[in-house]
Amino acid sequence: ENLYASRITCGPGHGISIGSLGNDNSEARVSNITIYKAHLSGTTNGARMKSWQGGKGYAKDVTFEDITMEEVHNPIIIDQNYCTSADPANPKPCKKQTSAVEFSNIRFKNIRGTSATKEAIKLDCSDTVPCRDILLQDVKLTFRDRGHKHKHTSATSLCNNAKLTGSGTNVDPKTC
Ligand SMILES: *[C@@H]1O[C@H](CO)[C@@H](O)[C@H](O)[C@H]1NC(C)=O
Repeated sequence: ENLYASRITCGPGHGISIGSLGNDNSEARVSNITIYKAHLSGTTNGARMKSWQGGKGYAKDVTFEDITMEEVHNPIIIDQNYCTSADPANPKPCKKQTSAVEFSNIRFKNIRGTSATKEAIKLDCSDTVPCRDILLQDVKLTFRDRGHKHKHTSATSLCNNAKLTGSGTNVDPKTC
C-alpha cells in the first residue's frame, strides 16, 4: 500500500512484478502503487501483475509510468491465470477456480521500447472476475527479432477479459 518507486534500472533478471497474489486461496490487499521512471533491459518481464486463480481481495490503483524497455520478453503483462509448478519436472495442472483477486485501475503510461517476443502486450484476465479500468496511454513497443538480424517489426497483443478505460490513446500494438 502507498508505494512509490522511481528511477529503477534493471536487467537482466525478472523485471518488475506485483504478485504473485492469491496463492492457495489467500487474500491480497494491494493499492496505490506507482512505478515511475524505469529502464528495463533484457528482462523476462517489464511491467507485470500476476495472480493465481482462487484468491480474493484486490490490487487497485497501480501506475506504471515512463518506462523504457530494451528486448524485454513480456513488456506489459497482466496475468490473472498465473500457474506454475513447484516441481517443473512433474507439473500438476492448475484447476479452474471461480474466485480471483480483483484487478482494477491499472495504468500503463508512456511505455516505449522493444520486445524480445512478438506478443508485447498480454492482458490475460479472469473469466469470472475480469480486470477493469485498465488504461494504456502512449505505448509504443516493437518486436526486435533476433532471428532476423535484429530487425524491428510490429508487435502483437493478447486481450482476454480486460475492460479498458478511455480510448487507449496512442497505443501500438493496439489491444482490446
Ligand atoms: C499514495 O501513495 C503516496 C506515496 O507513494 C502518498 O503520498 C499518497 O498520499 C497516497 N495516496 C492515497 C490516496 O493514499
